[in-house]
Amino acid sequence: MSETPAFQISDTQIPEVPTVKARRPDPCALVIFGATGDLAARKLIPALYHLALNGSLPQDFVVVGVSRSVGDADAFRARLLESTRRFSRTKGVEPAIWQDFAARIFTVAGGGGDAHTYAALRDQLEALDASHGTQGNRLYYLAVAPSLFPAILQQLKLAGLIYDASDRRAWSRVVIEKPLGSDLDSSRLLNGLIAEVLDESQTYRIDHYLGKETVQNILVFRFANAIFEPLWSRHHIEHVQITVAEDLLVTHRGEFYDETGVVRDIVQNHLFQILALIAMEPPATLAADDVRGQKVQALRSIRPIPPQDVVLAQYQGYTEVSGVAEGSRTPTFMAARLELESWRWSGVPFYIRAGKGMSAKDTEVAIHFKRVPGILFGREAHLCPNVLVLQIQPNEGVSLSFSSKVPGDDLTVASVNMSFEYAHGFDRKPGDAYERLLLDAMRGDATLFARRDEVEEAWRLVDTFNLAWERGRGDVPVYPIGADGPDAAQTLIARDGFAWRKLG
Ligand code: BG6
Repeated sequence: MSETPAFQISDTQIPEVPTVKARRPDPCALVIFGATGDLAARKLIPALYHLALNGSLPQDFVVVGVSRSVGDADAFRARLLESTRRFSRTKGVEPAIWQDFAARIFTVAGGGGDAHTYAALRDQLEALDASHGTQGNRLYYLAVAPSLFPAILQQLKLAGLIYDASDRRAWSRVVIEKPLGSDLDSSRLLNGLIAEVLDESQTYRIDHYLGKETVQNILVFRFANAIFEPLWSRHHIEHVQITVAEDLLVTHRGEFYDETGVVRDIVQNHLFQILALIAMEPPATLAADDVRGQKVQALRSIRPIPPQDVVLAQYQGYTEVSGVAEGSRTPTFMAARLELESWRWSGVPFYIRAGKGMSAKDTEVAIHFKRVPGILFGREAHLCPNVLVLQIQPNEGVSLSFSSKVPGDDLTVASVNMSFEYAHGFDRKPGDAYERLLLDAMRGDATLFARRDEVEEAWRLVDTFNLAWERGRGDVPVYPIGADGPDAAQTLIARDGFAWRKLG
């Protein structure tokens, strides 16, 4: 039996004509470097399978998997069938759809730094253009360690597999996975190497949070409603809390995580992207560069974050995870207080927190509005402020708390909640973020991908405390698994008279 929603959306009116109609993706070949890796098995191929299931793939479309151990097409298809059955969000695969999709999967076996691989790839792609009508369009997906990016890009260029961005006959684009550097200097270096081979318009830096429906909805919520935007400023908002909490532990990713830590894994990218969408000014249009330009401005307005406004900590037992260095200082939790020096936000603290080993998976933005003056009900009434929560995941939705009279002779004021849940409001389930992002890359729409200056701006912000922390010595604060970070995180926000929202 499904639960009754707290607030019923009685007549969800879905217009027949979309406000902005998505373009059909172009015919193309998607080339996955790192085809036998985790990302391809868990995310990319299941996403492509679901696009096939929904009929969203271009009719003339092929996938080419590149890796040393990829084997021939039949072996690769068999392996992908098994992993897609396991990781499909619709649980399992439909045989007829899979068969049709799998017939469009091919392989090139070879190493990323090896010139022979690219000669074989070029031949394969040209043959597929002829047999499958892919028209010379290429989408390369670098699902490999960042240390391999420069070599792959150079080789693609040398083999003539990257076209000039102004070439109108066919296009070539490259999707690049994070981490894009480990600090501002390394990120600039990497972006510089990328820029030697690709035009910015051919570079698709993926941040899968931007493909989540609820993250995309931030813009619609803010700019398609008359009632919220007028309140969206220091005049009405007391403070903002952004949380990206995971109950997951580091498990088998010890080696990767130990070099990354929560700041590089979540804060520099996913969390700052959400913050930018919340804080940005309205763009002139929804064109990629208008939206991204406003996001950069929002990030630029964040003041350097002083060390006393940052709490970093590790969950108990982290250093025993396989692959983690003895005595590692890598943080698995971060909380911070940020100030934005802008006309809109001056004086409104933004509190952010992210971590693993917390009590629940919970990604949300909570906008706390200013309190009413205690004139009518008296200061002792402790009226709760209105809080607007954008619940990014799970239980995707939006809720607003407000004060209400409790029925009865006495005047008692209580806080009640009005909430909208996607699962009840719409009869369709959102797809996985990778589905949307892969389609957008095939369409040439970079709105939901990070531009170079956004990425570098976010590094500028985290470098101010992260590098000092790494150079530091001394004990790392520890929190028990399932506790929402260390006590210092509570103290940080309590200094201003506020408290973190409960998770889950
Ligand atoms: C990834 C991080 O980018 O995001 C992981 O590398 C994290 O450590 C994951 O678990 C969280 O993504 P989601 O979509 O499950 O919130």
